[in-house]
Amino acid sequence: MPTNWTTYRELLLPAPNGRRAVESELRRAVRDGRLAPGTRLPSSRDLAAQLGVARGTVTSAYAQLIGEGYLTARHGSGTTVTAAVTWPATSTAGPEPAPRFRYDLRPGVPALSAFPREEWLQAQKSALADLSTDDLGYPDPAGFGPLRRELADYLGRVRAVAARPSEVVITNGAAEGISLLGRVLHAAGHRSVAVEEPSHFGGAEMLTSHGLTICPIPVDDRGLRVDVLSTTDCRAVVVTAAHQFPLGVVLHPTRRRALLDWARACDGLIVEDDYDAEHRYDRPALGAMQALDPTHVAYQGSTSKVLAPALRLGWLVLPPALRDVVVDRKRLDDLGTGTLHQAAFARLLSTGGYDRHLRRTRQLYRARRDALLDELRNVLPDWEPIGVAAGLHVVLRLPEGTDDVALQDRLARRGVNALALAGYARTPTFPGLVIGYAALTPDRLREAVRELRAAV
Ligand SMILES: Cc1ncc(COP(=O)(O)O)c(C=O)c1O
Repeated sequence: MPTNWTTYRELLLPAPNGRRAVESELRRAVRDGRLAPGTRLPSSRDLAAQLGVARGTVTSAYAQLIGEGYLTARHGSGTTVTAAVTWPATSTAGPEPAPRFRYDLRPGVPALSAFPREEWLQAQKSALADLSTDDLGYPDPAGFGPLRRELADYLGRVRAVAARPSEVVITNGAAEGISLLGRVLHAAGHRSVAVEEPSHFGGAEMLTSHGLTICPIPVDDRGLRVDVLSTTDCRAVVVTAAHQFPLGVVLHPTRRRALLDWARACDGLIVEDDYDAEHRYDRPALGAMQALDPTHVAYQGSTSKVLAPALRLGWLVLPPALRDVVVDRKRLDDLGTGTLHQAAFARLLSTGGYDRHLRRTRQLYRARRDALLDELRNVLPDWEPIGVAAGLHVVLRLPEGTDDVALQDRLARRGVNALALAGYARTPTFPGLVIGYAALTPDRLREAVRELRAAV
């Protein structure tokens, strides 16, 4: 009997009753060390009696595990756990469970409860019914043709992007897009890439992991300081022109022109991360910069802020000089993004389901943003919301001298997840909180604001 276990029945909980269940519980017990190497197992008759299963169930489970190398059978000494089965201690340690907050105000997450499950199911069903047998083979690494056509049309219509289907590349989220671009730029001789300061650290981390150095360029109330960019050696920059992340400002028209002039002068690349531009509440968003110079702008988008990050569906619209090399990189990485999700998304676009969902969520988020800002005006009038009425988050500028990191910690202890602006900046800016409002109802947001008040 293995130490610490009184019966095999207890050891193999939940009590297995079929061959597969006995087999997989025994396998698991060997893997996680409950059955140590060298342990002698009971006879099949004995174990069958303990587990209350037929003897044949145990003999065939033993036979299977002997065949797989987990157990060894020796004449005269019964069945033992094979000594050579060793599992690294870390392999069973999963990631730390994320703490649960009463009010989760993290930015960047849409209302996941508003995901259009029914429409997505319909889109999946009808798309699958229409796929040919050949479509179930390896995909085109550039993306599913009908989706690239739908996206070229949608992006032209909604974001004024100048895209032919052949210039659209489907990626696993915007994250893969930036990763592919980082590697292609590195291979082409780039050693540094400029990013906005403050900005989302995720993209910069990916670029760094591909050997690129990050040049942080400050952002003011007109967006990226192109004059500062021009003093660096960088020939590539990632910019959130329509709605700067996290500050929420829009790249001013004079800065757009200056940025395009910079790209032309150094034959550089602007990566336009258009991550949440469909959500503008006060007026239609400015069209994408990409159309002003498609040879110097790589446009990047994603379903993460509109539908759900779980889909991992994103896209690039690439300058002709980059298109083939990026597609080749993707082919060598993963042979292309899965066709079934792409086909369902193409169907959602072609049937107007995506536009309908956007109309619904725009209303929802606008009401949530208004409720949040109303309550803040009443309860914390010296916390100044900055940026335009857009997206899924707002930055609150806190009174000078506030320690936003200490405030974040205090709030976390009260069950409120509200992130300090300092977490997005390499150099100190002003004290602030980055508040995501899309996932909470107006009532919950009002309650959360009262928690914010109580924490100061
Ligand atoms: C600035 C920015 N760009 C892009 C993305 C989207 O990334 P993905 O499509 O990989 O989910 C995010 C998501 O957090 C983001 O914050």
